[in-house]
Amino acid sequence: MSIIAARKESTTTAGQPSAGTPAGASAATAQPASADKPTTRGQVDITNVRKSFGATEVLKGVTLSVPPGGVAVIVGPSGSGKSTLLRTINHLEKVDGGYITIDGELVGYEVRGNKLHELREKDILKQRTNIGMVFQNFNLFPHLTALENVAEAPIVAQGRSKAEARKRGLELLDRVGLKDRADAYPRQLSGGQQQRVAIARALALDPKILLFDEPTSALDPELVNEVLDVIRELATSGTTLIVVTHEMGFARDVADTVVFMDDGLIVESGTPHEIFSNPREERTRSFFSKVIEPAFNI
Ligand SMILES: Nc1ncnc2c1ncn2[C@@H]1O[C@H](COP(=O)(O)OP(=O)(O)OP(=O)(O)O)[C@@H](O)[C@H]1O
Ligand SMILES: [Mg+2]
Repeated sequence: MSIIAARKESTTTAGQPSAGTPAGASAATAQPASADKPTTRGQVDITNVRKSFGATEVLKGVTLSVPPGGVAVIVGPSGSGKSTLLRTINHLEKVDGGYITIDGELVGYEVRGNKLHELREKDILKQRTNIGMVFQNFNLFPHLTALENVAEAPIVAQGRSKAEARKRGLELLDRVGLKDRADAYPRQLSGGQQQRVAIARALALDPKILLFDEPTSALDPELVNEVLDVIRELATSGTTLIVVTHEMGFARDVADTVVFMDDGLIVESGTPHEIFSNPREERTRSFFSKVIEPAFNI
C-alpha cells in the first residue's frame, strides 16, 4: 500500500465525522468544468484534511475535489474553517491529517521511506508558484508601484528579465483594467483598484489555481463589483478558482459548485441551485435563511 493510501486509511479511521454529522457530509466533488473551458491542469483533490490549533480542531476531515477549470465557491459562518482550508491548499498551513494533491502531486509533502515528510522550504516555494492567492486586505508591497508589484515574482521566482516581466505585467494590468495606473503606488489607488492589482499579481506566475479569501469584504460597496467582474472573467478563462466569499449573488452566478462549510466540515455541496434553493441539510437551510435576502433569485 502506498503511503498516501496508508495515510488515507489511517486518517479515515481516525477521522470519522463527529456524531450528528450527516453521512458523507464531509466529502464533496465539484462539478466538472463546463465544455467551454477546455483545461487539463489545475485538478485539486483535498482528502480527509484535518487541522488543529492547539486543542481546537478547526478542520475535521474535509474532502473536496475541484476539476481543472472548475469554480468552487466556499461559504459558511465565521470560524467554520474556510480560510484555514484555503491556506492548507498552498501549504501556508500544515495539515495534521489527510493530504492535498494538485494534478496528482502532493502539496507540501513528499513520500520518503514510506512516510510523508514535509518538503524543504525551497520546494514549498516552488510548488506555491502554481497557486495564486488573493487576500481580503490586498497585501500589496506599499513601496512598489502597481507594475512593480505584478512584475516582482516573475523576476525573483522565475528569473525573468525586467523587460519581459514588465511587458507581461502591463498585459496583466490591462486585463484587470488598470494599464493606465501602472506607475501608481498602492496608496494612490482605491481599494478596488488595489485588489485588481493583487489579482494581476496573483496571475503573474501563470498559476494553475487561484485562491481568493473574501476578496471583496474590505471594499466599500460601490467598489465590490469592479473586483467581482474581474473574477467573473477569470472564471471563464480555464484557471481553477476556489473562492471564499459572502457574496451570494456572485456565488450563484459564477460557481460550478457551492460548498457550504460549518464547524470544520463540509456540510454539503452542489450546484448553486441545489445549495441555495434546495439544500438537503437543515444547517445549510438555517444559514441561508439568515444571510440571503428574501428577494434573492436563483
Ligand atoms: N493561527 C491560528 N491560531 C489559532 N487559532 C486559529 C488560527 N487561525 C484560525 N484559528 C481558529 O480556527 C477557526 C477557523 O478559523 P478560520 O479563519 O479558518 O475561519 P473562517 O471560516 O475563515 O472565518 P471568517 O468567515 O470569520 O473568516 C477559528 O476558530 C479561528 O479562531
Ligand atoms: Mg476567513
